[in-house]
Amino acid sequence: MSDESRAVRTAVVIPAAGRGVRLGPGAPKALRTLGGTPMLIHAVRAMAASRAVSLVVVVAPADDAVAVKHLLDEHALPERTDYLVVPGGENRQDSVRAGVEALPPDIGIVLVHDAARPLVPVDTVDAVVQAVRDGAPAVVPALPLADTVKEVAPPVEAGGPEPVVATLARGALRAVQTPQGFERDLLARAHASVTAEVTDDASMVEQLGGAVVAVPGHPEAFKVTRPLDLVLAEAVLARRRANDGF
Ligand code: C5P
Repeated sequence: MSDESRAVRTAVVIPAAGRGVRLGPGAPKALRTLGGTPMLIHAVRAMAASRAVSLVVVVAPADDAVAVKHLLDEHALPERTDYLVVPGGENRQDSVRAGVEALPPDIGIVLVHDAARPLVPVDTVDAVVQAVRDGAPAVVPALPLADTVKEVAPPVEAGGPEPVVATLARGALRAVQTPQGFERDLLARAHASVTAEVTDDASMVEQLGGAVVAVPGHPEAFKVTRPLDLVLAEAVLARRRANDGF
């Protein structure tokens, strides 16, 4: 790492304002616990574990912003890491935009990381930051697919089987994770100008015609979406604790 790249401050925006309806009834997803600690705290710690990250911006459910601020106050972060909490919006895109708009002027690189990916290893975070520092304006961590992927059409009768219309070439497909890393100005421009509904931030850059590159992701950066993912996350955490007292 050169002295010049060290001078560029990096922040992470963590959208954590989703209700997590697919997980079933209960607290907002980011506040559900894993190993007794809220998922959001795991995600914040995972990002703060990178020495590159000097600021964490948590985007909280609007009703819970004060509670989330207290939660972060209670859980120690490394000395070098500042944090702030801003209220989120209607959808993920609005929430990320709120986080980006809250960034101080001296931030040059921005990571966006889902609170719902609490177990991302620090090496993945560092690899994304390094790729941006090395000159890529937008970077995603990505994994090859294990399953064959087919495109389907709507069922002929409601509730009936879906006709398969195509089988996609799996070798060229990737499942994309977070943290995604960006030059700050590019991400801000994407959020200011793209209004179409998207499911990740890099696709907004693609819509602007910007180049996005993929670096290797990690299986433990999976997104906690459904009840089975909670079981897997607990198992990963238990194994880490047994192995190294994490
Ligand atoms: O719903 P999904 O799992 O795609 O959400 C991804 C991330 O976006 C989660 O961390 C969730 O908390 C966040 N989100 C948000 N604001 C919303 C909806 C989702 O911050 N309105």
